[in-house]
Amino acid sequence: MELAVGGGMRRSASHTSLSESDDFDLSRLLNKPRINVDRQRSFDDCSLSDVSHSGGYGRGGAFDGMYSPGGGLRSLVGTPASSALHSFEPHPIVGDAWEALRRSLVFFRGQPLGTIAAFDHASEEVLNYDQVFVRDFVPSALAFLMNGEPDIVKNFLLKTVLLQGWEKKVDRFKLGEGAMPASFKVLHDAKKGVDTLHADFGESAIGRVAPVDSGFWWIILLRAYTKSTGDMTLAETPECQKGMRLILSLCLSEGFDTFPTLLCADGCCMIDRRMGVYGYPIEIQALFFMALKCALQMLKHDNEGKEFVEKIASRLHALSYHMRSYFWLDFQQLNDIYRYKTEEYSHTAVNKFNVIPDSIPDWLFDFMPCQGGFFIGNVSPARMDFRWFALGNMIAILSSLATPEQSTAIMDLIEERWEELIGEMPLKICYPAIENHEWRIVTGCDPKNTRWSYHNGGSWPVLLWLLTAACIKTGRPQIARRAIDLAERRLLKDGWPEYYDGKLGRYVGKQARKFQTWSIAGYLVAKMMLEDPSHLGMISLEEDRAMLKPVLKSKGLFSGFLGCTTSQLIA
Ligand code: GLC
Repeated sequence: MELAVGGGMRRSASHTSLSESDDFDLSRLLNKPRINVDRQRSFDDCSLSDVSHSGGYGRGGAFDGMYSPGGGLRSLVGTPASSALHSFEPHPIVGDAWEALRRSLVFFRGQPLGTIAAFDHASEEVLNYDQVFVRDFVPSALAFLMNGEPDIVKNFLLKTVLLQGWEKKVDRFKLGEGAMPASFKVLHDAKKGVDTLHADFGESAIGRVAPVDSGFWWIILLRAYTKSTGDMTLAETPECQKGMRLILSLCLSEGFDTFPTLLCADGCCMIDRRMGVYGYPIEIQALFFMALKCALQMLKHDNEGKEFVEKIASRLHALSYHMRSYFWLDFQQLNDIYRYKTEEYSHTAVNKFNVIPDSIPDWLFDFMPCQGGFFIGNVSPARMDFRWFALGNMIAILSSLATPEQSTAIMDLIEERWEELIGEMPLKICYPAIENHEWRIVTGCDPKNTRWSYHNGGSWPVLLWLLTAACIKTGRPQIARRAIDLAERRLLKDGWPEYYDGKLGRYVGKQARKFQTWSIAGYLVAKMMLEDPSHLGMISLEEDRAMLKPVLKSKGLFSGFLGCTTSQLIA
C-alpha cells in the first residue's frame, strides 16, 4: 500500500476505517427502546442520517457552520458553543464552568497548549497541580473539541510527542524511549522572554513510577481529534506515527508473560499512589485495549507500521478473551468461584489461577446483585482483587472490551448499587474502601488514602464524563441525567473540588484541590454529550469481528485490503 507522507498526504485505506467501520451508529441508539434522549433542535432540523454523519468525519450538511474548527463560534469566546446551538437554556453553572476552564489554560510561546491540573490559589501547597497532566487534559481536550476548538488539542498532541523524544532517567536508569510524561510545566523566563518546557516522566513523581496510562491516553486523544475534526493529516505525520509505534513497542514486546495483560507497578495510572493496584490493574488493561484499537485505525500499513498492525490484531484477540473470561464477575461467576476446587494441575483445571475461595471478601456476597456484573480490579496467580474500579469499567464499555451483554450488566450494577457507587456525588473511584489492617498492609499506612477518601473509595466528579459516555452508549442516558443532577447541586457551590470523601461522597475531600480542572471539564463534557449524543463517536469504539475470530495469518493479512475497512481486514 502506497502512502505518501509529509506534504503530499493521501488518505490511506486504513484511515477510511475511522469514518466507516467505527462510526458511532446513532440510528441504532435512537432505535433502542430504553433511550430517552431529549431531541434537541439540531436533531429536529436535520435528518437522522445527517446527525449520524456528524459523528464522523468532516461534519457536513447542517453542522458545517456549527462545528467549523476555530470558525465563527470562536467569536463567542467564554460562551459554550454547544449551548448557543440549542434552543433550551443551559444550566446556570455551565457558563461558570467554561470561564473556569479557560482560566486554567496554559500558553507556550503564545499558543494554548494545555490546562493546569488545578487553579487553586487558596491552597498553600501547589505540589505539581500547576502542571499540565496528560490524563487530566483529556476531558479538557474533549470539551474543546466538542466546542469546535481543536487547535489547542493539536498543539498538545504535537508538543507531548516531542517530549517523548527526550532522554529520561531515574537516577542512573534510562527509561524506554516510548514513555510519555505524566505531566509537564511551561517555564517562563521573563528576562529573556522565552518559554521552555519541563516534563516529568516519573522521575519527580511521588513513588517514582512512570505513568503507563499517559501513552494510551495520548493515542486515544489523537483518534478523538481525528474523528472530531476530520483532519487526518495530524495522525499521518511521521511524528505521530512514530509516537504511536514507540508507545506500542513498550507494551507489545515479548517477555516472560503468560498473560496478554500488561504487568504494572502500583500507582502507574489515575491512582498514582500505592493502593494495591500493582499487577494487572483493570484501568490499565482497559486503556491498553482501547489504545490498541485506536492505533489500529490510525497506523499506516507501511513497512514500519505493518509489523505493529499484525501484533496489535493478535494481542487484541488474546486480550479480549482473557479479560472477558477471567476478569468478569457476575452472580453466576461468583457462585462458581465460591465452589472452586484448588490445587488443580494441567490443562483441564477450572480454577486456572488457583484462587482460594476463602479469599473472597464478605462484602462481595451482599454487593453482587442478581442482575449485573463488572470487571474486577485485578487477576493474577492466586489473587483476585474483587474491588470495583470505575474508570476501567467505563473504558471497557466505551472501547467495546465489554460485550454488549457485559456493558448492560455493568450499567445494571450501577443502578442496583446506586447508593454505594454514586451516593450523593458521582462517582466512586473504587468500591469498597480498604481499612484497618488491610489499609496498613496494602497502602503502607498512607494518610492521604484513609478509608472513603481520595483514591480509597473517594468520589471523583471527573468520572462523570465517562459515566455519561457509557450511559449513552448503552442507551441509558437517564442514568447520566440523574448523576449530573446530583453533581450540579454541589460542584459550583463547593468550588469544583477534586474529590469528595465519605461513604456517600457527601464531604469535600480532606485534601481536595478546588477548581480542579478535570472536575470542571468532566462536567462540561458530560453536559455536551447529553445534549448532542453524536459527540460520543469521538470516544467510543464499536465491537469488531476480529474479537470473535482468530487472525488468520495464512490467509494473508494484507492481501487485497484496498477498499476494506481495518476491521474487515483483520477479521
Ligand atoms: C492526583 C491524581 C492523579 C491526577 C493528579 C493531577 O495525583 O491521583 O490522577 O492526574 O492528581 O490532578
